[in-house]
Amino acid sequence: MDLTHRPRRLRRDRIRGLVSETSLEPADLIAPVFVDATTDERVPIESMPGHERVPIAEAVPRVEEVLATGVEAVMLFGIPESKDPEGSRAWAADGVVQEATRRIMGETDAYVITDACLCEYTDHGHCGPLEEELAEAADPGMADSTMTVDNDATLEALQRIAASQARAGADMIAPSGMIDGMVGAIREGLDGAGYREVPIMSYAAKYESAFYGPFRDAADGAPAFGDRRHYQMDPANAREARREVALDVEQGADVLMVKPALPYLDIVSDLRREFDHPIAAYNVSGEYAMLHAAADRGWLELEAVARESLLSIKRAGADLILTYFAEDVARSL
Ligand code: PBG
Repeated sequence: MDLTHRPRRLRRDRIRGLVSETSLEPADLIAPVFVDATTDERVPIESMPGHERVPIAEAVPRVEEVLATGVEAVMLFGIPESKDPEGSRAWAADGVVQEATRRIMGETDAYVITDACLCEYTDHGHCGPLEEELAEAADPGMADSTMTVDNDATLEALQRIAASQARAGADMIAPSGMIDGMVGAIREGLDGAGYREVPIMSYAAKYESAFYGPFRDAADGAPAFGDRRHYQMDPANAREARREVALDVEQGADVLMVKPALPYLDIVSDLRREFDHPIAAYNVSGEYAMLHAAADRGWLELEAVARESLLSIKRAGADLILTYFAEDVARSL
């Protein structure tokens, strides 16, 4: 055959690397860490093999494990000692994330990002205080279409949370509640408290996804009734993501996140073209759990599929990836 074009020429061993378009570095990865104020021991998370909830006393050793793999950033999630309808432990100066942050900042070089949301702190498991009517009627039968959180009351709570986390030393604040106006409110709150240099990574396009199941077990943040479809985005929508992101950009978001990652790579790729901000993608608990489950059965090779997943997320346009595979993949690079 007289073929002029033979793309296979560039797939040979010594040239593949030179023409590779995407690379994965430990510095691109952020490792989620769960700190639990209700336990004195590390508790394995069953649906997320290899991950644990660690007590506050183990926060520093846990982060040192992450750093030893080459990953430099962690995202802290907290499980508080008690919950109430407002989620008040989320902004307590001696709250679980605040305490862990102080220790990690004091004793390690990790870049600490704190999750700013209320679902792990409210007794009903929603991402903010409930609208009054609903709070009065709150019972498991209330999963009807009027169910929702009080948007503007949540904004004030988020300002308090962000300021308390910054005061504890957090390097970056990551609001994940999909509350309208959350980025602007937090920016104003941080600036007012003197934390002008603390950036905000907004979960700008966070979908109401069934892939969060294992996380909700891990962080004990499942809604006690109803679901999150009145605040998180409809998986059917792509254009709406641009609108959400544009609003967050206007309000001062520094980094824009898409969540989940793999089922939403079209969104990552679209936002990459539309916006010049750094884009983060959250390779969520369900994406992690399903690869582990298949690998357990011998159906997939874990290290290979994990690495291919993260590479695909980067190829789609993400600069940063939050992933439970962070340590394993970083170690293998
Ligand atoms: C809470 C929050 C969730 C996740 C991160 N922050 C769960 C939710 O929205 O229900 C999920 C992360 C994962 O599944 O790995 N705002």
